[in-house]
Amino acid sequence: MTDIKVKTVSKPGSLPDESRLGFGAYFTDHMFVMDYETGKGWHDPRIEPYEEFSLFPAAMVLHYGQAIFEGMKAFRTVDNRIVVFRTKDYLQRFNRSAEILCIPRMDADLLEQALYQLLKQEAHWVPGRLGTSLYIRPFVIATDPYVGVKSSDTFKLFIILSPVGAYYASGFNPVSIKVEDKYVRAIHGGIGEAKTPANYAASLRAQVEAKEEGYSQVLWLDAAERKYVEEVGTMNIFFKINGELVTPKLNGSILSGITRRTVIEISREWGVNVTERQISVDELFEAHDRGQLEEVFGSGTAAVISPVGELSWKGRKIVINNNQTGPFSQKLFDYVAGLQYGNLSDPHGWVNEVTKL
Ligand code: COI
Repeated sequence: MTDIKVKTVSKPGSLPDESRLGFGAYFTDHMFVMDYETGKGWHDPRIEPYEEFSLFPAAMVLHYGQAIFEGMKAFRTVDNRIVVFRTKDYLQRFNRSAEILCIPRMDADLLEQALYQLLKQEAHWVPGRLGTSLYIRPFVIATDPYVGVKSSDTFKLFIILSPVGAYYASGFNPVSIKVEDKYVRAIHGGIGEAKTPANYAASLRAQVEAKEEGYSQVLWLDAAERKYVEEVGTMNIFFKINGELVTPKLNGSILSGITRRTVIEISREWGVNVTERQISVDELFEAHDRGQLEEVFGSGTAAVISPVGELSWKGRKIVINNNQTGPFSQKLFDYVAGLQYGNLSDPHGWVNEVTKL
């Protein structure tokens, strides 16, 4: 066990009204911080008050975006335990993003220890009602004060915590999605697989235009042919076609979602045929015309399982399952929520208990 120094706030805050949390607007009293310097490695792990910090205006992250992040969740179970879902899988993906962005590898065991220590300290900030959680945002930024383009020699790692409700204002109700045929998010050989700010910056223009047209998100197509479905940007996407579950195959430009993995694993256990492959929008619209596109839903840490009620592409709109949450999406949501809030036992070892209150 590494010794993690702790400096506490003099006046702790408290959890806001659980029914009005929204997503990502509140933060707990403390955060975890650690520094990196070439030759010294990652050092000085510590828990500090959540507050502003200083950076040089030349800090490299501000100019060239060398940064990565993760998104995980802690839950308060019905029997008042604080648990984290699939911690090791998220930390492994954090290191994969680090590799892609030339950020030095982090010790996943130390991060797990630090996260649980921080969560124990902030346990009273974990909301308990169904649909709420404590969103965990680890991130790393490049801090060299230098405006030449290179990989930084210094970095700062943070873990901040935010009590949240549903990601979409519509909650678990179906969202309408525009299939984006003008802009692209990422291309094979690029950094689309990494959880890095650039991928989210690349999504903003399309997102703003889609919102103006009345959609809540865009569905990205592959950048080379604008033909095959990739992801939604805040979630991976699944299609239930004629009893089979189909999701785009990971190809380097799609984020390797942990909730995506969970959906695939549970669906297979339930005996559903799951295929990871290329799927074109043409094929989707044809399946709809044949009456075989039974359900569409997104999966993500923030979005959990999010049913899609409408897909619009080049002026053509299809309505899925009468714009209602389908039975399979509901069953998946209920199962995942059952594990996370402790109503169901966890045969997979996905639920890590941090503390019991
Ligand atoms: C997540 O699902 O954790 C995400 O990272 C999506 C978004 C909030 C950036």
